[in-house]
Order: sequence, then structure tokens, then C-alpha cells
Amino acid sequence: MNKILLVSGHPDFEKESVANRAAFETLTKLLPEAEVNRLDVLYPNYIFDVEKEQAKLVEADVIVFQYPIFWYGMPALLQKWIEDVFLNGFSHGPKGKALVGKKLVLLMTAGAPESYYNGENAVSESDLLLPIKGIVEATGMELSGYEILYGVSYGTRINEDISREYAEKARGTARKVVELVKTLANNNEQNR
Ligand SMILES: Cc1cc2nc3c(=O)[nH]c(=O)nc-3n(C[C@H](O)[C@H](O)[C@H](O)COP(=O)(O)O)c2cc1C
Repeated sequence: MNKILLVSGHPDFEKESVANRAAFETLTKLLPEAEVNRLDVLYPNYIFDVEKEQAKLVEADVIVFQYPIFWYGMPALLQKWIEDVFLNGFSHGPKGKALVGKKLVLLMTAGAPESYYNGENAVSESDLLLPIKGIVEATGMELSGYEILYGVSYGTRINEDISREYAEKARGTARKVVELVKTLANNNEQNR
């Protein structure tokens, strides 16, 4: 059976998250077969079990990174997981072929509205993908799709109604990602 690995990179899921928590609940409910990697729970001290994490990656056919945009990139927790686990000889370099052909899907959330990233400001949507494009290039993974939920800043969820609205939007975004992941997982299965 094909394998899905969900990597959640939000650093403070319980206390600080609305959008990612809601999206995560939908992803795990609708993809019960997925291996779930909540980095904030597994590695609150940011010290990873590298062998264990590499084994999860090797097992997976479809990998989902779910994270909020922090400073135009990924949170330090996910960034450090990649730095520590994606090692030369494993994921890249002449002998590092472990991730070749694996399908990568992203679910990102952003505080700024979509219009902020439409090209008028210094950073555009494609810039948000830049580190991921490099990772895909270096590892031989395929970026198979992504969803960005814009306009769900922690700074603007000033009451319960807004939080509920953000959570509902996040569930919708997660459902789109689930459809994509299921399609990819089925295609992978057929190609085996
Ligand atoms: C440290 C930090 C940095 C952030 N940087 C950005 C940013 O560069 N661009 C952006 O659109 N939103 C930024 N945000 C807003 C978050 O992306 C937003 O609050 C988050 O996606 C909401 O998801 P959550 O409810 O799961 O926390 C930042 C938030 C924090 C806490």
C-alpha cells in the first residue's frame, strides 16, 4: 500500500494555532492511513531522532508539509528538521537518493492577504515557494501541488467569530489538499 507522511511544522499548535490546528484535524480525519509527524509534540526541544525521521521519509510515497508562513519562510522547527534530517548522502549529494521521485504537497497558511503577494510588494507568492523549490531540486522530489490559505493572521483573530471563520476556511483548504493527496497516492499505487 502507498504511504502518506504528514509533517506538521507549527511550533505551538495547542496554544497559538487556529488555522493549522483546524487544517490538521481535517487532514488526519480524512487521511486516517497517513503517518502523522507533529514536530511540536515529538520534538519540543528541536532535537530530532534523525534515523527515525529518515526511516519515515524512506517509507513515504507522498509527503505533506503543513506549516504557517513565518518571516516569508517556514517556522524554525520545520526548517531545523529539514537541516538535521536531510543529510548529504541521504537526501542529496552523489550518494543521496533516498527521496528521489517522492511527491511533495504543501499546505501553508499566511497572515497577509493574497493581494499582498500579488507582485506589488517585494515578496510574491512564487517567492514563498523558493526554499521548497530548492529542496525539491536538490533531493529529486516532485512538488506535486500546494495550497496557501491567506489572510488568517494571529493578529487579526480578535474574537471567537473570526477564529471560527479562519478555522472553517482552513478546513476547506485541508479538504482540497486531501483530494490531491488521495489522487497522488492512488496514481502511485497504480504505477507500482
Ligand atoms: C513569528 C511570525 C512570523 C510571521 N511571518 C509572516 C510572514 O512573513 N508572512 C505572512 O503572511 N504571515 C506571517 N505571519 C502570520 C502567520 O503566518 C499566521 O499567523 C499563521 O499562518 C496563522 O496560522 P495559525 O492559526 O495556525 O497559527 C507570521 C506569524 C508569526 C507568529
